[in-house]
Amino acid sequence: MNELQDALNGTVSQAVIAAMRWSTPWWWVCTAVALTTLALINVLPWRVPPAKEAEYGIWEVLKIALRRAAVYALVALVLIFWPGMYFATVAALGNAPGQGHVWFVDYVSRQAWRWGWLLPAGLLLGWTGRIASARYLTPKMSRLVQRLVVRQEDHKQSDIRNEVGRLKARDFDPRRHRRDGQVFIGLDAGGKPMFLAAETFRATHMQIVGPTRFGKGVVLGVMLEQAIEQGHSVVYIDPKADAFIPYIMAEACERAGQRFIYIDLGNEDTRWAPFEGGAPRDRRSRICACFGLNNTGDGSDFYKSRERAILDTIMPRSGTSIAGLRAALEQRGEDGKPLKESASRLYDNLVEFGMLPSLNPKKGGGNKIGEALKAGATIYVRGSLDDPTIRRATQAFVTEVIQEARRLAPERTRQLTLAIDELKFMISQEVSDALATIAGFKVNMVLLHQSIHDLRSPEDRSLNVQAIESGVLVNCQVKLLYRASDPETAEWASLLSGTKIVRVTKSASVEYNRFGGEAYTPKRMLSDLEVPVISPNEMLSLSPRVGVLYAPERLAEVVYTCFVKADTARVLYRKPVAKLASEESATDV
Ligand SMILES: Nc1ncnc2c1ncn2[C@@H]1O[C@H](COP(=O)(O)OP(=O)(O)OP(=O)(O)O)[C@@H](O)[C@H]1O
Ligand SMILES: [Mg+2]
Repeated sequence: MNELQDALNGTVSQAVIAAMRWSTPWWWVCTAVALTTLALINVLPWRVPPAKEAEYGIWEVLKIALRRAAVYALVALVLIFWPGMYFATVAALGNAPGQGHVWFVDYVSRQAWRWGWLLPAGLLLGWTGRIASARYLTPKMSRLVQRLVVRQEDHKQSDIRNEVGRLKARDFDPRRHRRDGQVFIGLDAGGKPMFLAAETFRATHMQIVGPTRFGKGVVLGVMLEQAIEQGHSVVYIDPKADAFIPYIMAEACERAGQRFIYIDLGNEDTRWAPFEGGAPRDRRSRICACFGLNNTGDGSDFYKSRERAILDTIMPRSGTSIAGLRAALEQRGEDGKPLKESASRLYDNLVEFGMLPSLNPKKGGGNKIGEALKAGATIYVRGSLDDPTIRRATQAFVTEVIQEARRLAPERTRQLTLAIDELKFMISQEVSDALATIAGFKVNMVLLHQSIHDLRSPEDRSLNVQAIESGVLVNCQVKLLYRASDPETAEWASLLSGTKIVRVTKSASVEYNRFGGEAYTPKRMLSDLEVPVISPNEMLSLSPRVGVLYAPERLAEVVYTCFVKADTARVLYRKPVAKLASEESATDV
């Protein structure tokens, strides 16, 4: 009997020893984990409230299971383990009174000294985790979930941070997109070619607006090439010296068997007499416009009318060459004084114009716009923005093209596409008037400028800016707008695109928890909203070569443009052999 008791005692003692060994440090670790768990997920709710069964998800149920496990574990570890150990120790070492108790207390206090810190640390960790998760993790998770939600709305409000760089330029070869009766402009967002009906291109004027280097010249090259291919004669007024378009035009003319005329108003090899072409009234009006002899409604009108009268008396005798007019003004009038004294503005301007060889061909020489138009030739005119004289001469050139195109309309066989770059410097009353009237004379104009402000502050201060602006905006039914350089242009472009009805989130509701973390509730309100087809943000952030096309009977749409390759090694004009030999007159038409 005693043997059995001894064996049993031995087994119990071994179990107690093993359990006591385990408890360093595992009792402390397990208790700390249970405390962390409870501090992290809270002690309540203890079970799923019956009323909320349907709302409780797997995560809540899991939390309940976890907290129960933690509480049971704590009960077992604190209320069962140590009392059990105490009695077992006392029982095992009970032979000498007091020994078991002393040993137990000593052992446990040493453990507590070494591992006790785990319990407050566990609690602290749990609480910190709880606060951090409620404050920082919950809002983040909520936002993430919002992103993953499959939504009913069909539109996201425009945000400039998303727009910037969204529409990037694309490279392709426009020559691969040709269709009969259509003018290719570029590709749409889906990569499909976008065309403008050739009929629309001919019947309406076009406006291309964009900051410098954004691709106005790119799309113009693409269009002018097609215009020449479709049998138009083209006149391109280029005050800024585009590096590629003259070559593109020359090459297209060669392929189409059309005559190409290159005129550089700053170069004496290609000459044109500004006041010699066209009907006498047209010449006179060009002189008056060019030299500022038209009335402007101020005190100088009296002198201007006197100068015009002198011009009218000398014109029949002198002709309208610059040298002829000058010579006539140097002669004496009836009062015995040189006429130039009474017509100083006219004379001074003639002297200035007389200094440019390109404007002073030999008698009967120089390019003749009327004849070129009748022959259906294509003309490229290079001007200059730096030289005010050349700038005014370029304006006179535009005016002559318009006058001659109108006067010779019955004789002209081809549609004329007149492209005018840098409209701010080239706009004149004639151009503005022509917009309203010239389409009936087989002329379509393409006007290029940088922003709508150009129309409000043109070079020529005598113009009625409001009439000019509305004339251009109304008569250019086709518009290609590149990035808006100012909010006003962006707003205008956006308004011009019209509006559409979309469904958007009107409001989403949020709630914040006791630790100050905010999360979305599952409620969100949708509403129908009227938004522009093209938003101002989009206009402000278009990449170079990406524009928005507006045309009659179609929605405004983003268009990606790309240039055609230009053969810049091509010779644009040759000096006539006779000229080379004797420096005779310039290239005659
Ligand atoms: N045919 C072409 N081949 C190669 N590059 C071209 C061609 N046409 C234009 N580019 C390039 O495309 C860019 C846009 O030039 P583009 O001449 O179209 O500017 P823009 O809008 O007309 O500006 P600006 O007001 O200065 O004339 C430039 O970097 C230019 O060098
Ligand atoms: Mg340009």
